[in-house]
Amino acid sequence: MIDVHEVHKHFGGFHAVDGATLSIAEGSITGLIGPNGAGKTTLFNVIAGVLQPTSGKVTMAGEDITGLPPHDLFHKGLLRTFQIAHEFSSMSCRENLMMVPGNQSGEKLWNTWFGRKRIAEEERALRAKADAVLDFLTISHLADQKAGEISGGQKKLLELGRTMMVDAKIVFLDEVGAGVNRTLLNTIGDAILRLNKERGYTFVVIEHDMDFIERLCDPVICMAEGKVLAEGTLAEIKANEHVIEAYLGTGLKHRDKVGT
Ligand SMILES: Nc1ncnc2c1ncn2[C@@H]1O[C@H](COP(=O)(O)OP(=O)(O)O)[C@@H](O)[C@H]1O
Ligand SMILES: [Mg+2]
Repeated sequence: MIDVHEVHKHFGGFHAVDGATLSIAEGSITGLIGPNGAGKTTLFNVIAGVLQPTSGKVTMAGEDITGLPPHDLFHKGLLRTFQIAHEFSSMSCRENLMMVPGNQSGEKLWNTWFGRKRIAEEERALRAKADAVLDFLTISHLADQKAGEISGGQKKLLELGRTMMVDAKIVFLDEVGAGVNRTLLNTIGDAILRLNKERGYTFVVIEHDMDFIERLCDPVICMAEGKVLAEGTLAEIKANEHVIEAYLGTGLKHRDKVGT
C-alpha cells in the first residue's frame, strides 16, 4: 500500500533518515520500533507530508505521493494522528470529533443564507457519527467533557477517534502508549484491532511498549540511525543480531529490554 524508497531526510549535515526503504502491506498493522533518535518520527513526518524528504520516493498504491501536503494525503485516506491542538481543548470531545470532516455546508456563507435546513440535517448526522465513534471507543461518557480536561490516555483515544470521522485507509500512530496506563492502553489496542478487522484500516504504529507491539503488530520493522535494520515478526526482530547491537549501543544491557 505504501512504498518508501531510499528516503533521506537531512537536517543540515545530520542524516535523521538515511536511505530508508520499506513497504507497508495493505490490511497490516505494521510496528515500527528502534532506539530513540532512530529517525522513526522523522520518517513518519516525511510519509505524512509534514516534512519534505531531502531525496527518495514515497508511493501509495503505486501513485507517487512524495512531498504532498498533509491536506492532500488526508483526502487520499492517509492520516497521522496529532495531539489535540491547544485551541480545541476548551471544546467538548464530541465537538472535537465533529470538527474533523471538512467541506461542511455550514462553512459556506451562501449556505448559511439559503440552506439552513440542510445544515441542520448535516449537523445531526455529524453529531450521530461522533456519538457512534465515542461509543466504539468506549468513551461515550466523555462526550460533553472538555477535551482539555480528559486524561492523557483518553486524549489518545479521542485522537484515534478523529481518524474515524473520515474514511481513513491508513493511519500512522506515533507512540500512542506514551504515558498511558495499562487499562487504557488495552482499550486503545482493542480499538486498533477492531478498526483493522472490521473497517480494513491499515496501521503503522511506533511504540516502545513491546507487549503492545507483540499483541498488535505483524510485521515489525526496526530502524536505527536512519536506516531500516530488520523486518519480521517481533520474535525474529528480537533475535536479530543487528537489532540487539543497535539497542545495546544505546546503553541497554539485556535483549528482553529491546524497545524499552
Ligand atoms: N527538526 C529537526 N532538526 C534537527 N534535528 C532533528 C529534527 N528532528 C529530528 N531531529 C534529529 O533526528 C534524529 C531522529 O529523530 P526522530 O525522528 O525524532 O527519532 P525517533 O522518533 O526514532 O526517536 C534525532 O537525533 C533528532 O534529534
Ligand atoms: Mg519519535
